[in-house]
Amino acid sequence: MSPSSLKNRRVILAVTGGVAVYKAAELVRRFKSEGADVTVVMTGASQRFVSPLTFESLSGNKVHTDVFSEPMAHINLPASADILVIAPATANMIGKLAAGVADDMVSLVFLAFDGPVVFAPAMNWRMYAHPAVRRNIRTLRSMGLHEVEPEEGELACGEHGVGRMAGIGRIIEAAKGCLRGKDLSGLNVLVTAGPTREYIDPVRFISNRSSGKMGYALASAALRRGADVTLISGPVGIDPPPGAKVVRVERSEEMLDAVERHIEGADILVMAAAVADFIPDEYSAVKMQKQDSLVLRLRPAPDIVKAVSGSRKRPRLVVGFSAETGPEIAKARRKLDEKGMDFVVFNDVTAEGAGFDSDTNKISIIDREGITDYPLMSKDACADVVFDRCLELSKPGTRAAENC
Ligand code: C5P
Repeated sequence: MSPSSLKNRRVILAVTGGVAVYKAAELVRRFKSEGADVTVVMTGASQRFVSPLTFESLSGNKVHTDVFSEPMAHINLPASADILVIAPATANMIGKLAAGVADDMVSLVFLAFDGPVVFAPAMNWRMYAHPAVRRNIRTLRSMGLHEVEPEEGELACGEHGVGRMAGIGRIIEAAKGCLRGKDLSGLNVLVTAGPTREYIDPVRFISNRSSGKMGYALASAALRRGADVTLISGPVGIDPPPGAKVVRVERSEEMLDAVERHIEGADILVMAAAVADFIPDEYSAVKMQKQDSLVLRLRPAPDIVKAVSGSRKRPRLVVGFSAETGPEIAKARRKLDEKGMDFVVFNDVTAEGAGFDSDTNKISIIDREGITDYPLMSKDACADVVFDRCLELSKPGTRAAENC
């Protein structure tokens, strides 16, 4: 699991006023059980839901609520903190932080803190989808804040949608991830993500269910850990992490071309894209008309990872993904040699919590030494595990290090 730890780390937990405040009490307990020292700061609205006394009892530290009763607390507190976690983060607070407004303890502490910030939005699904909130979240992300995205489910208002605050485990994992430091700095990382589209005619294509979430989580973890990141992405509906150089492609042949153009100077290639295995043999330049039956002949798509790993431009480390619909580890193991990869990240897409659009994944890492199984984790945490393995394999004396 993640070597990053919260032990003896100083956490500021900023609590803002939504019904999810009660979950922040459990968050304090979890931070404490991980060995962190937690100081809670609260907005006025959050105190209407849960009393500061609850947080004071759980954290063992004074809770800060009032700027005027302690005029220097908003400067002194951040000066000694390692991380700021804002959970729950309301639409109001997200808007204030994006605009740089500083009129309460939480927004003041935010401006006075120059370390990593994690925020976990919690609100009604229509509020979360509102263009103003989307824009503010984009702004915060572009400033380098780490969003722990809310989950879909039953909301406090009785409606169903995306807006429920992320689970405590995901927030803790995100905080650990942000405290890792820049252990990939100086490295160029090339990540592919998402599906490809193989066109039959100008309006129809063959594709797959890849959401791109795993590849985007990899790009974002590499950026957070200090790498220069190029993200070659098939068509997906999610925003790329700020700071990545993004190259958008559709067809597998375009993806091969983009990888070949950007591979020079890359230290690590992570092929997380779900590249098509087959391409329609013939492309009709005009829309095909209805007919009684249609037989499509398919030919193999270019195998990108195989082409790159056998070329003179091969990066020091080549990592592939292997999605199967069952516990077919042996198939994944075979691909390691067939495609010349340093390790394969295997996942069974039919396993609970490991599906295509899921925020979590259950992976096994297969390399020439064996198989390591990991528990169900967020895709962010899986991404960190992948780069931890890359760093282990780059140590002098290891096979990948000898490829240098
Ligand atoms: O054989 P399979 O498609 O399961 O292999 C998966 C790995 O190979 C992934 O890393 C994927 O990105 C890569 N791949 C590729 N070119 C293809 C198909 C898959 O590079 N045409």
